[in-house]
Amino acid sequence: MINDSRFAFYDLAPGEENFRDAVLCGLDRARKAIPCKFFYDTRGSWLFEEICRLPEYYPTRTEIAILKEYSGDIAARIGPHGRLIEFGSGASQKVRILLRALDRPAAYVPVDISREHLRSAATGLAEDFPSVPVIAVCADYTRPFALPPLPGARGKRVGFFPGSTIGNFEPDAAVAFLANYANVLGPGGEMLIGVDLKKDPEILEAAYNDRAGVTAAFNLNLLERINRELDGDLDIDRFEHVAFYNPAEGRVEIYIRSQAEQFAQIAGKRFRFADGELIHTEYSYKYAAAEFRALAAHAGFRPVDTWTDAGELFSVHYFRLR
Ligand code: TRP
Repeated sequence: MINDSRFAFYDLAPGEENFRDAVLCGLDRARKAIPCKFFYDTRGSWLFEEICRLPEYYPTRTEIAILKEYSGDIAARIGPHGRLIEFGSGASQKVRILLRALDRPAAYVPVDISREHLRSAATGLAEDFPSVPVIAVCADYTRPFALPPLPGARGKRVGFFPGSTIGNFEPDAAVAFLANYANVLGPGGEMLIGVDLKKDPEILEAAYNDRAGVTAAFNLNLLERINRELDGDLDIDRFEHVAFYNPAEGRVEIYIRSQAEQFAQIAGKRFRFADGELIHTEYSYKYAAAEFRALAAHAGFRPVDTWTDAGELFSVHYFRLR
């Protein structure tokens, strides 16, 4: 643990994510699936940053525009000496907009499972915001854990969960995730969360099927990762990216489809893929503002504010715990 008054690193030693077991088990099922958290190896993280810059992928730039436009209102809600707790902080980019607007923030607490990525992002942020104490916590934020003692007992504890990552959980799991966030924040906690809105399916489908093919490369990188890390021999050219909006479920469904009957070896095991067979890789749920407020209420969060862009593409909600 590095520890001075401005930077601390707490390592809660989260269990290793086991890619091998997840793949062998996921491809053995009648409906094949690979959990979406495995997208983000080094190449996958780089491809995702490219996705965020695509003309069709509106969520990132729209959320950033909302945070900038309403940073004054958000800062007023949070008040002086706030402590921001971000789960899955990644590169810690969006929080900079808030830190610039806040009145004497007492702490920024990035929580991430990826130890080295967390260390470098947290160090960079501490250098750029010398007056903000940074308390990095390496933990699996989908499980219960306790926050270390935070400075600034007078300020609020406010969760920050941008990027509509909440949409990657199925609704029941999203409620459970928010309930765990509420427990970590504790009584009196508040939450600022970014959620992609329901909208014209054409806009949604374009966002997940960009013309440059970056999203396809990102999705298929899962197969390349299997070949690289699990000694696989998947013929990636005979698989394709599939993404469409399912209006009944209110979600974009993302799959990899086998374009022929084919067989592959992975970690010494043999797998069959039927012609047209789908491997599920992600859901991305979209919520109307009122719908998301109702979901959050099941985890004890009461709505305070909702901000959206003029095109009603994306929403940022502010909640308070009951
Ligand atoms: N969480 C992002 C989203 O749901 C991730 C994402 C963007 C994604 N494009 C993708 C995941 C394509 C899989 C495939 O918007």
